[in-house]
Amino acid sequence: MCGIIGYIGKENATPIIFEGLKKSEYRGYDSAGISVSEGGRLMTVKAKGKLSALERLLEALPYSHLGIGHTRWATHGEPNEINSHPHLSTDGKFAIVHNGIIENAAELRRFLCDRGFEMVSDTDSEVIAHLLEYYYHGDMLAAIKSTALKLKGAYALAILSSYTDELYAVKKDSPLIIGLGKNESVITSDIAALPSQCKEYLLPEDNEIGVITEGKAVIYSLGGEPVEKPYFINSGTSDESDKLGYPHYMLKEIFEQPAALENTLAGFSEPDLPKSALSAVILCGCGSAYHAALLSSRYFSRLGVPVSVMYASEFRYCDPLIDSDTLFIAISQSGETADTLFSLRLAAEKGAMTAAVVNVANSSIYREAQIKIPTRAGREIAVATTKGFTTQVEALRLFSAYLTLKAKKITPEEFSLAKSEIAAAASALKTMLSDLKIYQKTAYDIFSAKNIFFIGRREDYALAKEGALKLKEISYIHAESYPAGELKHGTISLIERGSICFAPVTCADLKEKMLSNIKEITARGGSVYVITPFRETFSADAKVLPIPTDGAVYCAASVMQLIAYYTASLKGLDIDKPRNLAKSVTVE
Ligand code: AGP
Repeated sequence: MCGIIGYIGKENATPIIFEGLKKSEYRGYDSAGISVSEGGRLMTVKAKGKLSALERLLEALPYSHLGIGHTRWATHGEPNEINSHPHLSTDGKFAIVHNGIIENAAELRRFLCDRGFEMVSDTDSEVIAHLLEYYYHGDMLAAIKSTALKLKGAYALAILSSYTDELYAVKKDSPLIIGLGKNESVITSDIAALPSQCKEYLLPEDNEIGVITEGKAVIYSLGGEPVEKPYFINSGTSDESDKLGYPHYMLKEIFEQPAALENTLAGFSEPDLPKSALSAVILCGCGSAYHAALLSSRYFSRLGVPVSVMYASEFRYCDPLIDSDTLFIAISQSGETADTLFSLRLAAEKGAMTAAVVNVANSSIYREAQIKIPTRAGREIAVATTKGFTTQVEALRLFSAYLTLKAKKITPEEFSLAKSEIAAAASALKTMLSDLKIYQKTAYDIFSAKNIFFIGRREDYALAKEGALKLKEISYIHAESYPAGELKHGTISLIERGSICFAPVTCADLKEKMLSNIKEITARGGSVYVITPFRETFSADAKVLPIPTDGAVYCAASVMQLIAYYTASLKGLDIDKPRNLAKSVTVE
């Protein structure tokens, strides 16, 4: 999604805004722009493409203490200069940057055009700037309130006006943070983009407006009343945005997985459960978070209640059966994925007990869930998640073990065993990551392929889904995941000489079944790479990519991450910022 930044303070705004945009660029990178306010005028530069294109234009901006900036992931209108933010009002007196999606934009465009306004872009966001002009009669708070009441959809806005020397923010369903430092304030959609000099920050809730000056912010409800807000300390985490010598964030984050697993284990605190009796468990997430949920579902089955796993984008529209004994678990690395956030809210509205496995503390999903299960993977910058995924699986393993312990379905010794297995997994993964040659060789063998299959059974099917997604999203090779036992029911017609298939096999009780499925492929000329600790079972029929027995699930996931990484690297692609993607999808 998009990154928004606003600054007001003693320093020159432009370099601070640009630095914040660089830290937000992983959220969206189709185009970018900055507006500053100086001498009663707003000056703006915008550029299509990555921030490097914008950087060349910054010298055109005057010294100013007040400005806003934006990196875009296009929802309406192709990525180009006209459609990039900031968007300005017709009279040039208002500039806005927007993260989210305005669902009634077409209706508002008609409303504005009927009143003489001309749209210059194809975006939804532009209507916000014109509405501010339309509603402004000398009172910015009133104009913002009237504008917000017209909008339907999700938005986090930073607003400038040449009428005032203040910065404004307003949000609904999109993340927004207001950082406060000595004589300076920053608005951002991402806590990681807060400069370290902002020692504190505020988290406006939906339908609250921030009026921000140097080092100060007053929050108002849409009704115009001031709202007291708690201040949070900006931990100013060590600058994790440094690649530490790795060529890409993704490779750095793959190598951070053993430590991420150890930190998540060390940080796991037994959560207070609003109630212990459960009637059902629902696991819900998007993309890799969904795969982590699918992989972990059997862990929860030991509770002896129905366990379902749903895509968040489906959950919201399937009229789910939920009662007050249902445990709804949202899984999200960013904690801001709109589909997952809205699913959590729906489950809460229906009376479910809610929990969230989240990597970004104080994110919307983290804050709104009753039970918080943090993963401690550290900041994840690469759009393709790696340590975010493996620590989600780990956290779900620990949470399910804790729930089954409380339900007296396992003994304290078994709970301790689950923890020690994770500790062993981190160590085994660290050893596995010390030799990458076989993954580089495999990538070399497959990088020119057009279609690749990933198959697995039970937990390994979830791994196959994750492996296929990793390969697709960074190498742009079409990859299809399939339940191994299902392939013969139609899709096997696609297998021919030269077909390539990956098969994670970590389930010992299913390895013979998997061998049969693998033979079905090799008998038709396909080649199969088996990612497994059971080398002896498969070595006669397939190319084995060996992994340790300890932590086989985490190691298998890492093997597929590495193969995707080296494949994309051989193709010379932008591994950390793949085309069309964004790190946190804060629109539906
Ligand atoms: C994973 O590599 C993808 N970037 C994507 O599927 C991601 O897992 C999904 O968008 C969910 O994100 P979240 O965990 O931040 O909610």
